Amino acid sequence: MSQNISSELSSEAVFCDAFQRRLARWNRDRLAPAFPTEAAGSNEGLPAEMLVLESIFLTALRLDVASAAMAAPTDADAFVSWFDELRVSGPGQQDTLFPWLAEQASFDDLRWFFEQEAAGEAGFDDLVAMTQVKMPIRAKLELARNYWDEMGRGNAKGMHGPMLGLLGTALGVSPTIDGTVWESLALANAMTAMATRREFAWHSIGALGVIELTAPDRARLVSDGLRRVGVSGKDRHYFDLHAVLDVKHSEAWNREVIGPLVADDPARARFIAEGALIRLTCGERCYDRYRQMLWGAAAPAKPVAQAA
Ligand SMILES: [Fe+2]
Ligand SMILES: [Fe+2]
Repeated sequence: MSQNISSELSSEAVFCDAFQRRLARWNRDRLAPAFPTEAAGSNEGLPAEMLVLESIFLTALRLDVASAAMAAPTDADAFVSWFDELRVSGPGQQDTLFPWLAEQASFDDLRWFFEQEAAGEAGFDDLVAMTQVKMPIRAKLELARNYWDEMGRGNAKGMHGPMLGLLGTALGVSPTIDGTVWESLALANAMTAMATRREFAWHSIGALGVIELTAPDRARLVSDGLRRVGVSGKDRHYFDLHAVLDVKHSEAWNREVIGPLVADDPARARFIAEGALIRLTCGERCYDRYRQMLWGAAAPAKPVAQAA
C-alpha cells in the first residue's frame, strides 16, 4: 500500500478528473452486491489503498470548511438556526445558474445539466440507509420515515430513484462516469465517503440534512425550465415532487434529527456543520463548472447574488 506517497497528494491532484473518476469507479464497484470470489470489488486498486485515497479526499474537503464549521454554535436551538440559515447564505446558494435554467436554457442545455446531475447522484435512499446504522432512536426514526418516502412508501411507482431514471429516459440521457465532469463525481464521492464511514456519520447527517434544506428552491427552478422546453408533467415529476416534499423533509430533519443529536452531545455540532458545508461546497464547485460549460466565456467568475 502506498500510504506515504498517497498522503503527499496535493489538492490539485485530488480535485481533478483522474482522481475523481477512479474513486467513482471504485464506489460503483464496491457497493454493488457481489459474490465472495469478487471480494476485492474493483479493478481500481486494493481496498486498503483506495480507502487511503478516500481519506486524503476527505481531509482536503474538511480543510476547505473547517474554520466556518468551528464557528457554528453548539447550543441545539442556536445550531438549528445556524443550519437553517445555510439555505440562504451557504456556499452555492442563490446561484445564477438556476434562474437561467428556468428562464433561458435550451432543451439541450437542460439535458446536459440533467446528465451531469444524474451521474453525480449517489442515491439518497442508500445514503440514508447507510447513515442510520446505530443512530439514536429519535434520529433513526426520522431517517426511517425519510427512507420510506424515498421508497414510495412501498409503491414502486412512487420510488424517487426510478422516478429520476424515468426523466433520464424521457430526455434520452445515459449518464456515465467518463461523460461527467469531475466536480459532479466529487460530490457523489464525498456523499458516499461520509455515508459509508462511521467516523463520518455526523458529517453524513449534516450533508443529507442540507440536501433536504436546499433542494426545493433548485428543484422548482429546474422544473420551470423543463416545463418551458416542453417536458411533460409526468416526466418532470421528480423535480415537482422535491420542490414540495423536501420542504417537509427538511423541517422534520431539523426538528427530529439535527436538534436532538446536538442537544444529546454538543460536540457533534462541529461535524454536522462540516458535513453540511462539505456538501454545499461540492455543489458550488459543480455550479461554477456547469456555468463555465454552458455559458463559456460569458460565465462570470462568481455568481451574482440574487434577491432572496
Ligand atoms: Fe427524494
Ligand atoms: Fe427528501
